[in-house]
Amino acid sequence: MTNQTVAGLKGVSAGQTAICTVGSEGNSLHYRGYSIEDMVGQACFEEVAYLLIYGELPNQSKLAAYQQKLKSLRDLPEALKIVLKLIPRTAHPMDVLKVGCAFLGTLESETHPTQQQCDIADRLMALFPSIVMYWYQWHHLGREIDTHTEADGVAAHFLELLLQRKPEAMVSEAVDQSLILYAEHEFNASTFAARVTTATLSDFYSAITSAIGTLRGPLHGGANEAAMELIEAYQTPAEAKAGLLDRLARKEKIMGFGHAVYKIRDPRSDIIQGWAKKLAALRGDKVIYPVAEMIDKMMRDEKHMFPNLDFYSAAAYHFCDIPTELFTPIFVFARIAGWSAHVIEQRQNNKIIRPGAEYIGPEPRPFVAIANR
Ligand SMILES: CC(C)(COP(=O)(O)OP(=O)(O)OC[C@H]1O[C@@H](n2cnc3c(N)ncnc32)[C@H](O)[C@@H]1OP(=O)(O)O)[C@@H](O)C(=O)NCCC(=O)NCCS
Repeated sequence: MTNQTVAGLKGVSAGQTAICTVGSEGNSLHYRGYSIEDMVGQACFEEVAYLLIYGELPNQSKLAAYQQKLKSLRDLPEALKIVLKLIPRTAHPMDVLKVGCAFLGTLESETHPTQQQCDIADRLMALFPSIVMYWYQWHHLGREIDTHTEADGVAAHFLELLLQRKPEAMVSEAVDQSLILYAEHEFNASTFAARVTTATLSDFYSAITSAIGTLRGPLHGGANEAAMELIEAYQTPAEAKAGLLDRLARKEKIMGFGHAVYKIRDPRSDIIQGWAKKLAALRGDKVIYPVAEMIDKMMRDEKHMFPNLDFYSAAAYHFCDIPTELFTPIFVFARIAGWSAHVIEQRQNNKIIRPGAEYIGPEPRPFVAIANR
C-alpha cells in the first residue's frame, strides 16, 4: 500500500474486472475477451450489449428474443411523459436523460436487486432513446410522438424517432456500429462513478444517474459535441490549418484528441473514421470531412496526438442528420450496456470505494470562538 498521491488516479488499478481490457497489447480494446475489431462488421449492438450484461454472446434465437424484449420496453409511462413535458426546452438532453432515469427509479423502483437488475438494465437501454426523443420532439418541433417503433435495434429505433421515418440503411448501420464502439471502456470516469454509487449498496437507477452526470462533461462524453463545434468552425482545410495553429499557440485543448489510457492510437477511431468517410461520400460532402482530416493531420504533426473515438464520430453523426446536442445522449444509449455490466459486477464482490487523501491544509490550530474573531 502506497500513500503517494497520483493525480486523477492515472495508471492506478482501482479494482478487478472481467468485463473489458483497454490499452493492452498495442492499444487494443476487448469486451469479455473479444476484440472490437472482430465484433464490428460481424455483430450488431444488441449482441454486444447482451455479451456485456449477460456474460456470453447470444445465439440466434437468444438474440431474437433479446431484441423482442427490448422492443416491448420502449413505451414511456404516462407520468414520465408529464415530467418530460415540464423539462424546459433549453435543457441539455443529457440532463433530460438524468432526470428521466432518476424519475423512472421512482416509478419502477428496484426492490429486489439480484432479481431485477438485468431487467432494469434492459428497460433503460430500451427507454433512453424514447426519453430523449419524446422530450426533443415535444419541445423543439412541437409534436407529441409515439415512442413505440418496430425497429429491430436501438440505433434504428432512435433514428426513426428522430427522423419520423425509417432511416437509410447505411445511416442505421453506422449508428449501430458506433454503439458497439461506445458500449464499454473499463474504469472510465462515468463507469467508475456508477461503481462508487453501487458500492454503497445504492440502487441501479442511482448508479446510472451518477454515470450520466459524469459522462456529460466535455473531457468525457461531451467531447463529441465539442469536436463538432470545432469542425464546423472552419469552411476549408486551409482555414482549419491556420485556426488549429492559432488554438495550439493559445494552449487550447482540442476536443476529440488525446486519451488517458491509449498512448499510440485509439483503436475505435480508425473504425469510426471509416464510417465518417463513407457517409461523407453518401452526402456528397466537400467541407466537413476534409476539414476534420486537416485537424487530425495538424494534431499529429504539431502535438503528436491522435483522434479518440469522439472526433470522427462527431462527423459521422453529423452526416446521419443527427443534431449535435444529441451526440452525447447516443453515447448513453450505448454505454448503458457497459455501466450495467459494471453495476452487476460490483455487486458480485462488493467493497465500499473510499480512497484516502493527502492532506495539504493548515496544521492543527486552536479554535477561536466567534465572538473573538
Ligand atoms: C482525454 C484527456 C482528458 C486525457 O487527459 P490526460 O491523459 O490526463 O492528458 P493530460 O491532460 O495530462 O495531457 C498531457 C499534455 O497533453 C496536453 N493535451 C492533452 N490532451 C490535449 C488535447 N486534446 N489538446 C491539446 N493538448 C492536449 C495537455 O494539455 C498536457 O500538456 P502539458 O503537459 O503541457 O500540461 C485529454 O487528452 C483531453 O482533455 N482531451 C480532450 C477531451 C476529449 O477528447 N475527451 C474524450 C476522451 S475519450
